[in-house]
Amino acid sequence: MLKASNIVKSFSGNEILRGISLEVERGELISIIGPSGCGKSTFLRCLNFLEHPDAGDVQVENVKLASHGAWRRADEAQAHRLRSHVGMVFQSFNLFPHRTVLENVMLAPMQVKGLEEGKAHKIACELLEKVGLSAVKGRYPDRLSGGQQQRAAIARALAMKPSVMLYDEPTSALDPELSEEVLSVMRALDAEGMTQLVVTHDMRFARAASDRVLFMEAGQIVESGDPDVIFANPREAGTRRFLRTLL
Ligand SMILES: Nc1ncnc2c1ncn2[C@@H]1O[C@H](COP(=O)(O)OP(=O)(O)OP(=O)(O)O)[C@@H](O)[C@H]1O
Ligand SMILES: [Mg+2]
Repeated sequence: MLKASNIVKSFSGNEILRGISLEVERGELISIIGPSGCGKSTFLRCLNFLEHPDAGDVQVENVKLASHGAWRRADEAQAHRLRSHVGMVFQSFNLFPHRTVLENVMLAPMQVKGLEEGKAHKIACELLEKVGLSAVKGRYPDRLSGGQQQRAAIARALAMKPSVMLYDEPTSALDPELSEEVLSVMRALDAEGMTQLVVTHDMRFARAASDRVLFMEAGQIVESGDPDVIFANPREAGTRRFLRTLL
């Protein structure tokens, strides 16, 4: 349901992504691990064209977008279509501070999809229930714990009914206990069949919850496969080195 082919991206002459290809099956939970600066966030951002790759193409559902030199208005429209299938969650939550949690979740479906307020309200309440925030939905983000804010951010992304959720270190700003609240929401979504791609430093989660782990190094996917194999018996020297530095 998601396919990226040969994604290349440079910043000021440095090649950060060196031709990354990836196919994701519906319902998969994939963890992306690798050293700081290897291009994990850049890759995730290229998948929904928040960052324009220099080369390569991305397909999500039936929307395909190829990168080429001149970005045109038609490409922006296509990027918009592509993004409508993709939910993104960042390390820093990024909730609207002057909106309640409920409003945060209702806003995009109303503004982007033109959903009528009553329907948006119903969907938002259901999603907030699902992530365990019904009791605090009238609060402003700064009245919530980090774990609650991140769960609100997940509910907000889900409100657009994405086909795939991308997470960039969703728990690295959180204490272990609050991380667990967020990870358990992701596990529940996995059980429901949501497709999820997670950049994470949480190796325990990557190992226990993923269907597949990708190890990235210097702008390439060096090794990918079953989490138990990657963690217990990695094939590549780079993967072994990385995992050793974590111990
Ligand atoms: N907008 C940008 N302009 C210039 N260089 C950038 C930009 N974004 C990322 N880079 C560079 O690209 C490289 C990869 O960055 P990226 O954020 O993708 O790494 P990462 O694997 O997510 O690292 P981390 O684990 O620390 O989050 C880094 O060297 C970074 O400095
Ligand atoms: Mg990053």
